[in-house]
Amino acid sequence: MGIDLQELRGYIADMYTDVAELPRGKFHFPTGRPILELLGYSPELLDKIPSGALESFAGVGYHFDLEPLREGERVLDLGSGAGTDAFFAALQVGAKGHVTGLDMTEAMLEKAHSNLEVSSLSNVSFRKGYAESLPLDDQSFDVVISNGVINLSPVKDTVFSEIRRVLVPGGRLMFSDIVTGVELPDSVRDNCALWAECIGGAQESKRYLRQIEKAGFKIEKTSPNESYSFSQDSTETAAQKFQVHSISILARRL
Ligand SMILES: C[S@@+](CC[C@H](N)C(=O)[O-])C[C@H]1O[C@@H](n2cnc3c(N)ncnc32)[C@H](O)[C@@H]1O
Repeated sequence: MGIDLQELRGYIADMYTDVAELPRGKFHFPTGRPILELLGYSPELLDKIPSGALESFAGVGYHFDLEPLREGERVLDLGSGAGTDAFFAALQVGAKGHVTGLDMTEAMLEKAHSNLEVSSLSNVSFRKGYAESLPLDDQSFDVVISNGVINLSPVKDTVFSEIRRVLVPGGRLMFSDIVTGVELPDSVRDNCALWAECIGGAQESKRYLRQIEKAGFKIEKTSPNESYSFSQDSTETAAQKFQVHSISILARRL
């Protein structure tokens, strides 16, 4: 692996600072409410989420239909961005549940906090942290959700092992991510910009599922997000060449 973690984090922070601060800008991936509705999010629930969260949504799929969230569950949203999925989950787990959103990018965290202030929800909190070293207690969550984040890490084994650590036994990981149909060449893998655009870090799908199982999970369901596609021609061309696509995965901690 020829990618430098610190350099990559700089690219990722720059990219997602722009998504937070200039949500109407041009990105290589779709953002905002139109893609949320295409992916299958309920418009009625989206109406209950601050528009400042929706406009900076940069997720890649819909995983909430893999298994319903239950009232009272404790949920971690890994790479929560401006907060859409955290709010969406909070509406489902109710006042007895709680959602913790965690993100590494200051601008996203600031935006998530201002969104929280204008929302009527009191069962959500946001904090800074890295997926590779979660600042969270062992076995403190029933569910981990994540949307378009884990593909960005060059040390995915570490991320899955951290997710396993913070989940209770039998707890579940429900997430959407970008994968490929073929192995990516090193010229794509070693390109920080393509990585931050959610392509360079994507794994071949079967190998990805095996990696999750090796980390101590049982894969229970996978489902393609067929309505997701990249929004600029150059990225879409690379995506077609390497069969880059979005899937949602439900994996249970053994
Ligand atoms: C594609 S965006 C998705 C944001 C959010 N999940 C959504 O659906 O709108 C990726 C987010 O993950 C965060 N992120 C990327 N790598 C991370 C890491 N290693 N640890 C924590 N957050 C990370 C970025 O700052 C960014 O906010």
